[in-house]
Amino acid sequence: MCGIIAYKGKGNAASIALDGLKRLEYRGYDSWGIAISSDSRIGIYKHVGRVGNAEIPAAMAGKPARLAIAHTRWATHGGISEKNAHPHLDCSGKIALAHNGIVENYQELKKRLQSQNHKFASESDTEVIVHLVENYMNLGVKKAVQKAVSELKGRSAIVVLTSNGEIVAARKGSPLIVGYGDDEYFIASDIPAFLQHTSRVMYLDDNEMVSLEQEPRFYSMATGKEIRKRIVQIDWKVEAAEKGSYRHFLIKEIMEQKDTLWRAANQDEQKLVKVAEQINSAYGTFLVGCGTAGKVCMTGEYFFAKIAKKHVNYCVASEFPNYISFLTPKTLMIPVSQSGETADVLEAINAAKKRKVRIISLLNVFGSTMMRVSDDFFMVNAGIEKAVVSTKATTAQLSVLLLLAYASAGNLNEGKRLLLDTASAVNDMLNPRYEEHIRKLAEKLYEKEHIYIIGRSLNYPIALEASIKIQETSYIHAEGFAGGELKHGPIALISHDTPCIVLAANDESKDEIISNAMEVKARGAYIIGIAPDNNEVFDYWIKVPDAGNASPIVNIIPVQILAYHLAVLKGLDPDMPRNLAKSVTVK
Ligand code: M6R
Repeated sequence: MCGIIAYKGKGNAASIALDGLKRLEYRGYDSWGIAISSDSRIGIYKHVGRVGNAEIPAAMAGKPARLAIAHTRWATHGGISEKNAHPHLDCSGKIALAHNGIVENYQELKKRLQSQNHKFASESDTEVIVHLVENYMNLGVKKAVQKAVSELKGRSAIVVLTSNGEIVAARKGSPLIVGYGDDEYFIASDIPAFLQHTSRVMYLDDNEMVSLEQEPRFYSMATGKEIRKRIVQIDWKVEAAEKGSYRHFLIKEIMEQKDTLWRAANQDEQKLVKVAEQINSAYGTFLVGCGTAGKVCMTGEYFFAKIAKKHVNYCVASEFPNYISFLTPKTLMIPVSQSGETADVLEAINAAKKRKVRIISLLNVFGSTMMRVSDDFFMVNAGIEKAVVSTKATTAQLSVLLLLAYASAGNLNEGKRLLLDTASAVNDMLNPRYEEHIRKLAEKLYEKEHIYIIGRSLNYPIALEASIKIQETSYIHAEGFAGGELKHGPIALISHDTPCIVLAANDESKDEIISNAMEVKARGAYIIGIAPDNNEVFDYWIKVPDAGNASPIVNIIPVQILAYHLAVLKGLDPDMPRNLAKSVTVK
C-alpha cells in the first residue's frame, strides 16, 4: 500500500524517481507526487490519478536535481486529492516527507501540533509526521526523524528530504529497501523500483533508519547508534518485472504458470519432511492469510484433511485474535503471503510470537518482513508478481501446501509426482487456443451483473477464490458457494440465464456437484463447467486436466483467464483494479 522511492546520485533525480514510481504503481494508484531538493529549496509536484506515462513535470525538467523523493498513494486518511497526495511539507517548506502506513494516533498528534501553531494543508494522517520532524529539526535531521517516529503509533515507513540536501528514511513496520548503485543510492518500498539500476540491496529492519550521506549509513532508532549491515546481491531479472510482449502483467503472470508450478515443486525435501513432522506433532497448526492467500489457507485445510487425515485450522488473519487463547508454545503457525508484508498477517504473527508459537511462512518475496520475523520459511518461487490480482503466487502456494500435506501423510514422493504431472498438464493446457476458448466465454458474460461459482470438497475454497478473481478484475458481482449450500438459500438468486460456474473435479464429490449444477440449471442458470470431462448439464465446457488432489491448482487457472478477459472486454485495467493495491500494509 503506497510506494515510496528516494534517490541520491549523479543522475537526474526527478526523472529516476518518476521512473521508479511507474514501477511501484501496483502498490497504490490514487495520486502521486515528487519532491526534489536543489539550490537550498524544495520543489514539489503532485497529481491526482495514476502515474501512468507521466512525463517529468516541466518545473523539474530544467536544471536536474540530484536528490528526490516520490510517492504513489493508496488513500487511507483523507480523500483522493492533490492536497492529500504526498510528499507533504512542513510549515517552512524546507522539509518534505513521503509515508507508507497509518499514523494511528494522528488525531491526538495533530491537535497538539496545531496548538503549537503548525499549519496543516491536508487531511492526511501523514502530515503530522513532517510537522513533528520540523519540531525537532534543531537537533539535526537524523535525530529529528528518530524522535518523530518514536511518537507514532501504527506501522509506517517514511522518507524525508530537506532543502539542505539530506535524505533520511525510517522503518517502523512497513518495508524499505536500500539499493546500492554506482555512486548512486535508492530507498524504496520494493525492489522493482530500482532494479534496472542495481541488484545490490540492503534491507532495513524494523526500528532502523538510513541516512544517504557519502554512502548510506544505518542507525538504530532505539539507541541512535550507527549499525553495520550486509549488502545482499539479489538474483531478480529486470525482465521479470516488465510486461515484455504481453499487454498486461496479469496475463503474463497467468501464462507464467507454465513454469512456476515446476519451481514451486522444487522444494528442499528434507525441509518439507521436517516441517510435516512438526505439523504432525504440533498442538494445533494454524494456516493464516488474507484475501486470496486466505483461500489458499482454506484449501490447505482441505488438503491436510483429505490427504493426511489431519486437522489443521485455517484462519483469516484479521480474525486471528479470536483464536489467541488456544495458542501454546507447541502450536505452529503457517502464514501464507505473496508479499510477506500484509499488515493483518504480521499482526497475527506478532500475537502468536508473544505466545512462543513457532512460525513457518510460505512466501514469494525474498527479504520481506514476514521472512525476517519467521522461524523458518518456504519460498514458493513464483517470481515477481506485479498484477494486483494474484495468480501465479496462488497456484505456487497451493503447490507447496499440497506437498506438505503429502509429506504429513508420509507420501511426499507421491505428492511430488502428482505436482510434476500437474505442472506438465498445465504447460500443455496454457496455449492460445485454450485462452481463445475462454475469451469467447468472457464475451458471453462481460455484461452480466452476477456470476456464481460452486464447488465441493477441495474445490469449495477454490469457488471462493474464483469469486475474488472475477470481482477484482471485472467489478461483476461474483459469489462462490459450497455446492451443497445453494438449496439452503442462495438458489433464490438464480433466474433465467444467470451464469453459474461449476468446478467439477473427478473426485468423490463429482456426482453431487453435478446434481447441484442440475438444480440450478432447472431454475434457468447458464452452466459453465470446469471439469476434465464434458457433461450434458454444461452449457459451456472448459476442459481441465484430471489432476486428482491437485484439482484446485488446475481449476483456478481458467477462472484467472476468464477474469482477465472480462476486464479487457469491459475496458478496465486488469493490472490495477479500482480501490485496490498489491501489498496491503495497513490493518
Ligand atoms: O501479499 P499477500 O498474499 O499477503 O496478499 C493478501 C491479499 O491482499 C491478496 O491475496 C489479495 O486478496 C489479492 N488482490 C487477490 O488477488
